[in-house]
Amino acid sequence: MTNKRASWAVRHRRALPVLGCALVLATLAAGARAQDATIAATPPMGWNSWNHFACKVSDAVVRASADAIASNGMKAAGYVYVNIDDCWQGQRDAQGVIQPNDRFPDMKALGDYIHSKGLKFGIYSSPGPKTCASYAGSYMHEDQDAMQYAAWGVDYLKYDWCSASRVYKPDQIQEVYKKMHEALVKTGRPIVLSMCEYGLKGVWNWGASVGGNLWRTTNDIWDNYASMYFNASSQVGIEQFAGPGHWNDPDMLEVGNGRMNHDEYITHMSLWCILAAPLLAGNDLAKMTPETLAILTNPEVVAVDQDPKGVEGHRVWQGGPYEVWAKPLADGSVAALLMNRGEDAEKITVSLKDIGLGSSATVRDLWARKDLGSFTGSFTSSVPRHGAVLVKVH
Ligand code: GLA
Repeated sequence: MTNKRASWAVRHRRALPVLGCALVLATLAAGARAQDATIAATPPMGWNSWNHFACKVSDAVVRASADAIASNGMKAAGYVYVNIDDCWQGQRDAQGVIQPNDRFPDMKALGDYIHSKGLKFGIYSSPGPKTCASYAGSYMHEDQDAMQYAAWGVDYLKYDWCSASRVYKPDQIQEVYKKMHEALVKTGRPIVLSMCEYGLKGVWNWGASVGGNLWRTTNDIWDNYASMYFNASSQVGIEQFAGPGHWNDPDMLEVGNGRMNHDEYITHMSLWCILAAPLLAGNDLAKMTPETLAILTNPEVVAVDQDPKGVEGHRVWQGGPYEVWAKPLADGSVAALLMNRGEDAEKITVSLKDIGLGSSATVRDLWARKDLGSFTGSFTSSVPRHGAVLVKVH
């Protein structure tokens, strides 16, 4: 599957030279309506079909994923969105209304099924004529598509730039996203708007002003440590643009897809939680191991991501391949991440001052769910190769 995605992406990136453009700061769109902070008040959690299934997604895959979330503890841990990514689209009918392809016999019934499990339904489109995988996009059909999604019971739209660069100039990107935001608002149904344009035009500066609830900040994640770390570290310097209702999105999770080891997936999940990133599992939920499920659902780790204060954490110290990241939490404590990109286990020290705390503090290990005691001045822990230790410091 990963190879398929890779070869597809090579074609896709060739077709989208704009992805390589330098990011430019843009001014806020005058008069744009801010996004609705009552949706996505904390970073959205759920599942998305792309990272594992790519275009092999079907009604059966989506139902099996909904079944898994509802029964395996993920729903209780906060995962609620069941999101179909690219490749669901069929033809438009004589009136221009988008229809699903034959892998999705009845979208309304699928939405009803997802809702019957107490979950929410997500879908995918592009502002361009074609999606990234060359299915029908929403170009010139924005209102019609939003109405159709609402009729199907959709709660979340990922709107992926893709071929929009063929029909719009780069500086039209804000109005293009605003147009879909307004189309969604007109339906009267609260629908999360997930902007996917890979960080073009410094989207973090204006994404909220055009109605985005989250926006991708980078190109696609791949199931390897270097890609995962690249996407996470690309958030450095843009933390202040995230908050309740509007989040930086370093892309979906690869936890459980098999090409990183346990410690690397622990680092992946820890970083995403420190970053207040959307937590969209991207693995095959019907077939995952207990280890994968435990990484996705550790309640104390997920609570860092979902903390109501809604502050994106940041890197507070770096020495060679050793790093400390910190995220202030609503109860006055701080989540601290000690991570080791080196090739051997190493002791890493967090200075309490560096993470904004006083001279002494109590420390709890969130992965082990164990209190570690009181510390003065600093806290030190051994961290495995490519691993991470996530603690709550009070
Ligand atoms: C782009 C997006 C991915 C995925 C694919 C689908 O590459 O960044 O997340 O949605 O398109 O074609």
